[in-house]
Amino acid sequence: MVGKVCGTGSYVPAHVMSNDDLARIVDTNDEWIRERTGIGRRHIIDGETTSYMAGQAAKKALEQSGIDPEEIDIILLATSSSETVYPCAACEVQKMIGAKHAAGYDLNAACTGFVMAFNAAQAYISAGFCRTVLVIGAESMSNMVDWTDRGTCILFGDGAGAVILRAAEGAPVHMAAHSDGKKGVALTGLSRHRKDWEKEPEDGSVKESFIHMDGQAVFKFAVRKVPEIIEEVLEESGTGLDEIDYFVLHQANRRIIEAVARRLKTDIGKFPMNLEEYANTSAATVPILLDEMNRGGMLKKGQKIMTAGFGAGLTWAASLFEW
Ligand code: COA
Repeated sequence: MVGKVCGTGSYVPAHVMSNDDLARIVDTNDEWIRERTGIGRRHIIDGETTSYMAGQAAKKALEQSGIDPEEIDIILLATSSSETVYPCAACEVQKMIGAKHAAGYDLNAACTGFVMAFNAAQAYISAGFCRTVLVIGAESMSNMVDWTDRGTCILFGDGAGAVILRAAEGAPVHMAAHSDGKKGVALTGLSRHRKDWEKEPEDGSVKESFIHMDGQAVFKFAVRKVPEIIEEVLEESGTGLDEIDYFVLHQANRRIIEAVARRLKTDIGKFPMNLEEYANTSAATVPILLDEMNRGGMLKKGQKIMTAGFGAGLTWAASLFEW
């Protein structure tokens, strides 16, 4: 048995922050941000929480799938920016959608979180441990970034995406996942609540708590490791590169995605992107993009989709599945 996607959903806050809005907070400009990243805007929470956004995305996925929430066996929620450590956001979602038979837990692999959770769900289903899994990526990155650091605050946004997997006969799902803790220092973060970053830090200690990143090191890591893991999954599955219909990659930076396409010698048209609108929503980028592709009519039964995530840890993962 494999987990077939039978519903997708997403939620992004209505509140939008453009590059010009950011230029009023830090020394930056629209041209620099677009040229270096491809990002034009980001949606930022305005009262919403991570679990609220996750619950809204889950409701839409459920509605599309026609599945009764009580049929869900497990809720896997990938996040690194939930406002609460416990109850975990997955349990909050369980409550919101009435999935009373489901077990739920959060999983943190930063921006790779959704692909890691998707792979775990597939493993649960193929082992016969469960039939119906709700996989969510949800982030309030605006609570994590240092809004005085122009090197990082321009990159991130908030949102959530959800996918419902149902056990069915079908082509096997192929996957790979890796971590390199020794390089973890390239991208670190501790969550702080909004009320903290609105206060002026007196001794710099609050600032210390936000995201710290060596942008160029992360860029080089992504451009090297993403093609490698895609090739690893292709080889393991005996699939040719040209058989893949879409490469649904973590939406961190347009230049990273373009560099991956060049390294794989593959048409950039097979790499859908929406980061111009949402920026990097960490674990939520892949399911938000999948939902947009699904609802936009881009996805047809039998198409082969390669998804890949990368981020803090350092972590990276990929999954090849049939729509
Ligand atoms: N606006 C204007 N100038 C900026 C800026 C901003 N928002 N941020 C940095 N700069 C400046 C720097 O201070 C530097 O100025 P200097 O030359 O006078 O010292 C110059 O622009 C170049 O900075 P640099 O950090 O070398 O730029 P870059 O080309 O590496 O781009 C990133 C920076 C962050 C866009 C790029 O490294 C990146 O995208 N890395 C990957 C990050 C990522 O995706 N992380 C999440 C992964 S999950």
